[in-house]
Amino acid sequence: MPKKQKIDAGDVSQSQSYEPSTSDSSNPYLAHHVPVRSPSDGNIRYDSTTKTNPWSSLPFSQRYHDILKKRLKLPVYLFRENLLKTVNANQVIVVEGETGSGKTTQIPQFLVEDGIPTMGKTCVACTQPRRVAATSIAARVADEMDVELGGEVGYTIRFEDVTSNNTVLKFMTDGMLLREAMSDPLLSRYAAICLDEAHERTLATDVLMGLLQEILPKRPDLKLIVMSATLDAEKFQNYFKKAPLMKVPGRTHPVEIFYTQAPERNYVEAAVRTALQIHQCEGPGDILVFLTGEAEIEESCKQMRETAASFPSNVGELVVYPLYSSLPPAAQKKIFNAAPPAKVAGGVPGRKVVVSTNIAETSLTIDGIVYVVDPGFSKQKIFNPRARVESLLVSPISQASAKQRAGRAGRTQPGKCFRLYTEISFKNDLQSTTYPEILRSKMSSVVLTLKKLQIDDLVHFDFLDPPAPETLMRALELLNYHGALDDEGDMTDIGYKMAEMPLDPQLAKLLLVAPEYNCSNEILSIVACLSVPGVFMRPKEQAKLADEAKAQFAVQDSDHCTLLNAYNAYLHEGTSQWCWDNFINERSMSSADNVRKQLVRIMKKLDLPLNSNDSKSPSYYTAVRQALTSAMFMQVAYLQRAGTYLTIKDNQNVMLHPSTDVQGKPQWVMYEEFVLTSKNYIRTCTTTQVDWLVSCAPHYYDLSNFPECEAKGELELAYRRLAHRAVGGKK
Ligand code: CDP
Ligand code: MG
Repeated sequence: MPKKQKIDAGDVSQSQSYEPSTSDSSNPYLAHHVPVRSPSDGNIRYDSTTKTNPWSSLPFSQRYHDILKKRLKLPVYLFRENLLKTVNANQVIVVEGETGSGKTTQIPQFLVEDGIPTMGKTCVACTQPRRVAATSIAARVADEMDVELGGEVGYTIRFEDVTSNNTVLKFMTDGMLLREAMSDPLLSRYAAICLDEAHERTLATDVLMGLLQEILPKRPDLKLIVMSATLDAEKFQNYFKKAPLMKVPGRTHPVEIFYTQAPERNYVEAAVRTALQIHQCEGPGDILVFLTGEAEIEESCKQMRETAASFPSNVGELVVYPLYSSLPPAAQKKIFNAAPPAKVAGGVPGRKVVVSTNIAETSLTIDGIVYVVDPGFSKQKIFNPRARVESLLVSPISQASAKQRAGRAGRTQPGKCFRLYTEISFKNDLQSTTYPEILRSKMSSVVLTLKKLQIDDLVHFDFLDPPAPETLMRALELLNYHGALDDEGDMTDIGYKMAEMPLDPQLAKLLLVAPEYNCSNEILSIVACLSVPGVFMRPKEQAKLADEAKAQFAVQDSDHCTLLNAYNAYLHEGTSQWCWDNFINERSMSSADNVRKQLVRIMKKLDLPLNSNDSKSPSYYTAVRQALTSAMFMQVAYLQRAGTYLTIKDNQNVMLHPSTDVQGKPQWVMYEEFVLTSKNYIRTCTTTQVDWLVSCAPHYYDLSNFPECEAKGELELAYRRLAHRAVGGKK
């Protein structure tokens, strides 16, 4: 590879003591691999005499046998018996294994085959930090067990439940299991829980671990399997009172690491260039490129396809697949397609390149990857408790992440990893591990969940890594301002209702107040649109056309109302052609529609009325803006005399995001999101009025305790007007 400096692969683990056997006969499970249901206790056992799938009572398909052959070669199979023995003898075990060793797909099946869950009563849960992983692994395991997805094997992610009464194995996001705990505090539906990808230390997994500490003594029959890539396993072991640790060695081959000699100015361009160079210059093997998000990934895929199309015929075909969370399942599945064959018999074989977010770092293993391109970035949540701002920011990855990424190249044969940063940067600039998310999050949603679970003493809750006290204070404060907790920190009626909604507390509050403004139907549509990936598409080369299309829906003082208009138009016109012509993301809109239906169900359950103002009356949008004000009063910015915006109380200098439809620099704006890039932007904005703010949130706009700023004078005047009106009203 030109201009790349070859460095010894010392930091990537080489194959360990375990050497995989290539001869099937040495595998103890081959002789009796076919699971059957025992007539005596209904459990699944291994037997070689049957050809019938005990789940479906149908003959096993050819696909079943094809996959089985591959499954039996996974390192984790050699530990099957030992693992089950350990699980039966202990309540908690920690399993540490290289990515790709078969933990996620096989271990939950072992538990099912061992009769741990009882069909119709309990099941095995396997949690995943990411939705894509939950859905795609569930589909894979359904294939492995030769059953329909949604039957014996299913998945649950927010706003989507593909399970049935027969489900014995359920893949779910960690957030969903946490949510289930709110209505089922002992998690009685589960016979075993596999907390997978524990090393990722997501907020929900961390909180689940704390909760499970409390649940386990009360549920002696519940099994917990903490599964992690080779990081931090001892930490989990100690946390769970010296639970036994099983190590599953992976089958990693050596990976050569290459660094750039100088920092890259544009990592996306560099990634595209490198992948194309690999394709032209390197031997057979597929490529995995890590980028940070959908827009970046789609753009680079396009560039790669275009450039590769003009390559001479002596270069093999290149197929490019994107992978990110909002990609539809059918497209996600394609990453497992085999690379294309040679264009002509005896010619150069084709190659596949997968351009992925962090999801391919440990959650999903794509076989056949020999080259990894690692620009060294991922999107990470950052929280600044002082500014009360949580944002997703493209940030440098950790050394541990870089090692995991490199390891993906050595799954099937020796590989190469191209790091698009210097070796000095790797050593000096990357921190050794990523901070757990709990130290980088707003916590308000988690605190509400824990309060609902009657965990009142948050300070003494057994967190694996306790969040900063200031972050907890900020979360409690926010919930108190929203009326979810009273001044003693106890949950109020409003708090209970907010916790029922699978939404951020602020959006939950918005749905609760909307009926008072006679616009809950409109707010429901807005919240649904805010809960899905961007509904407005804006491809770079058609930006002007896209902006013109969006202008049809634009409401001058509210991006939220612009969303509402687009949603309403979609309901009336929503053909695929219409979406295409109007730069509306059809998939997002259709999920918004689905989300809205589910939120309507929750509103009905909570006896919250569904109401609307006349869409032609002037109060239609005003009511929506007032409702938004009652829920978003903590996310407000004020226009200063100098012509710039300053956020209320937190005093951050911000600018309206260029995508906003809000015109003419209004004095007061509320914002949905704080975007940190080279500048601070506020995105999805709606104008509000100072009089609304002081009347709906006097406890927040309490002047006796308000920092000095230009806005303070305006607020004082507004209070005077309010008092005057109150006196006037009494006359
Ligand atoms: O969880 P862990 O990283 O240990 O491995 P896994 O996700 O259970 O994957 C085991 C094997 O199944 C890998 O070789 C994957 O490539 C394969 N697999 C697959 O071929 N297709 C899928 N949809 C999922 C996994
Ligand atoms: Mg896994």
